[in-house]
Amino acid sequence: MKFNPTDYKKRNITIWNEVAPRYHKRWASVSQGPFQSTNKLVQLLDIKKGENVFDLACGTGVVTKKLKQKVGKKGHVVGGDTSVTAIKIAKKWNEKSSNLDFVNVDAENFHFTRKFDIITCQYALFFFPNSQKALKNMKKHLINEGKLGITVHGHPKKVPFFSSIFDAVTKFIPDYVPPGSPDLDRFGTKSALRTEVKKAGFSKITVKDFVFSFNPGTFEDYWKNYLKYLAKPLKQKLDSLDRRERLEIRGMVRENVKPFTLKNKTIRFPWEVLILTAKNKI
Ligand SMILES: C[S@@+](CC[C@H](N)C(=O)[O-])C[C@H]1O[C@@H](n2cnc3c(N)ncnc32)[C@H](O)[C@@H]1O
Repeated sequence: MKFNPTDYKKRNITIWNEVAPRYHKRWASVSQGPFQSTNKLVQLLDIKKGENVFDLACGTGVVTKKLKQKVGKKGHVVGGDTSVTAIKIAKKWNEKSSNLDFVNVDAENFHFTRKFDIITCQYALFFFPNSQKALKNMKKHLINEGKLGITVHGHPKKVPFFSSIFDAVTKFIPDYVPPGSPDLDRFGTKSALRTEVKKAGFSKITVKDFVFSFNPGTFEDYWKNYLKYLAKPLKQKLDSLDRRERLEIRGMVRENVKPFTLKNKTIRFPWEVLILTAKNKI
């Protein structure tokens, strides 16, 4: 089947509108596991009072909130996302303020008449089917010497929270992710991320890697919560399997998490995160 970016984006909007409340509660609003990156990203960008920042794919506004505190009343932050539900939560979580706005925009097509000192994009670059178009659009909206800050998950082998389940599920449901969809791991190495950002014309690129840890509880907690937080289209695919297949997947996942299971039966996953900073030299 030929990949259709418009359908892919529509599907992503549906998924994010559905999962945003759960995503915010369980992940984004608590700075545990991978979300320890939010503080690191803001620190690495060395944001000053009075600066103008655009937080692209702001989701429920966790990065936006830190940015707003950093730029102060004289600065300004705009958060933009394709999910209206995520933006709604972001508005509530950030409280109304004169130095903050939210807009419903697509990364590849947003347009502002102004330019920004800094653009941030945490855990979203891999969702943009035409990531080059999105990066070039970000570049176009940065002042000369303006800064870019991008956070992505590391290589699947270094993010076993995802791969332990994903590897098992895709053995039974090869089209679990629609065929032809952009590979969500495509920027999971330092060199792949750097190459993509360089290709879009950015300079002074630095990529740092961090390994955070995340404890999802026991295997039973991990499995139950993973299924609970899945979006409907993915859940439907899993539900279409028969009982024996589901049990087999569960057994494979249990094997996959063994290396990360502690004596007290809880799991401690390492979680690699890459944070890139770059400059827009015109
Ligand atoms: C994993 S969340 C990250 C949200 C936020 N940056 C954070 O760190 O919590 C990914 C976000 O990317 C957004 N997104 C996906 N595709 C997008 C696109 N083409 N343009 C803008 N936002 C998009 C989703 O709606 C979702 O809110």
